[in-house]
Amino acid sequence: MAAQLSANNFNQKAINGEEPSDYDDHQAMAEEKKGEGFAVEEPNNEECAVERVDRLSKTVTEFQEHLRERVSYYLGYPANHNCEHYLALSTLLQFNINNVGDPFKESDHGLHSKKFEVGVLDWFAQLWGIDKDEYWGYVTNGGTEGNLHGILMGRELLPNGILYTSQESHYSMFKIARMYRMDCETIASLATGKMDCNDLRDKLLINKDRPAIININIGTTFKGATDDLDLVVQTLEDCGFSRDQFYIHCDAAISGFVVPFLKQAPKFTFKKPIGSVSISGHKFLGCPMPCGVLLTRKRYIDILSTSIEYIATVDTTIAGSRNGHSPIFLWYVLNIKGQKGLEEDVEKCLINSRYLRDRLKKAGINSMLNEMSITVVFERPPDSEFIRHWQLQCLGNMAHVVIMPHVTVEMLDHFLYDLLQKRNIWYGKLQLAPLLAKDIGICNCVCSVHA
Ligand SMILES: Cc1ncc(COP(=O)(O)O)c(C=O)c1O
Repeated sequence: MAAQLSANNFNQKAINGEEPSDYDDHQAMAEEKKGEGFAVEEPNNEECAVERVDRLSKTVTEFQEHLRERVSYYLGYPANHNCEHYLALSTLLQFNINNVGDPFKESDHGLHSKKFEVGVLDWFAQLWGIDKDEYWGYVTNGGTEGNLHGILMGRELLPNGILYTSQESHYSMFKIARMYRMDCETIASLATGKMDCNDLRDKLLINKDRPAIININIGTTFKGATDDLDLVVQTLEDCGFSRDQFYIHCDAAISGFVVPFLKQAPKFTFKKPIGSVSISGHKFLGCPMPCGVLLTRKRYIDILSTSIEYIATVDTTIAGSRNGHSPIFLWYVLNIKGQKGLEEDVEKCLINSRYLRDRLKKAGINSMLNEMSITVVFERPPDSEFIRHWQLQCLGNMAHVVIMPHVTVEMLDHFLYDLLQKRNIWYGKLQLAPLLAKDIGICNCVCSVHA
């Protein structure tokens, strides 16, 4: 059905006299591949159990080779693939561990890892400047679940509140507004991707009679921009919102592991009037399964607590059953790396980000790198095969590379070499860079008009 829809879209363009673009082609191919899968086959009576396991292992081994090959071209998505150290935890796969319910409450269920979970949460609480007895949190299934919890908390505390989030926010924010049936004001973004606080002020003033639930981004999805928390708070105060009339959630899915380790960066901490923060654990930290952390203030959590007799604990989380392995993986990597190791990873990624940005600029390619960011934005290559090969994420005229710890200078050189070779084919020797000033700002555009 999806493939059919895409084909129709393709045909519609042809009918309208428009050339179907490479991007349509990319979409159509991605959708057409949906039907393929490794079939689940009934055990064959002629095959003994050992042969069957050998056959299955062969498929898994081949798949592993495929993953290894894809990792060396993994540039566009925000995930760290330095995961070898997690192999030490593989023996835990023989246990079905479930952290259902509240991490801090005892339950009768014995196969849980809440001691690891609480250790991880304490570590994050310290990083975000909130005392042990002041915070509440849990290990989530990823950034989206943390956003779901943070915004739910805001809505329960301020039931008539309007959600304000910038246009550069992750799509989960707009989905959450729909799920919770909240009124949502989309705030304009600057060319850097930061929230435009003038637009925020205008919209707050129009809705002065209702509380404000504000999502701020610590690392936007596409441009890696970090919103100015102090300016947002100042804007709220200037518009006459007192502390009990607003709630701030921080979506730190991507840069929650970058910004806190930068000496020059503005402080994001619970010492400021924020209500919650959500960070992904599979992005910068590279946990091999989706996970994350949600922190909030302990005094808020009662509003979401319900005692559930048959799990013999309190329900305070979004999910029921919760992954019991991921807190152990988070605990393990935080212990392996320590604060110093994480600082080194961040420093290396920032250096490599600047390296890529500078090399692109030198080659006459429009590019942008925000402060405190590891996301390099540049012009979208007009070739879906190239995009697929390097697993680039694209939006409109732009593509981006996220410099995670597994990305080496050698990998970037390989990418740059390939890009420059392909540009000769795409644009000919003249290499006229397309206009990108509207997307990334005039100062980052090297087109013939703005250079
Ligand atoms: C800013 C931002 N928030 C939230 C998310 C969602 O995170 P997850 O994929 O862990 O649910 C992402 C994912 O890229 C993101 O970029």
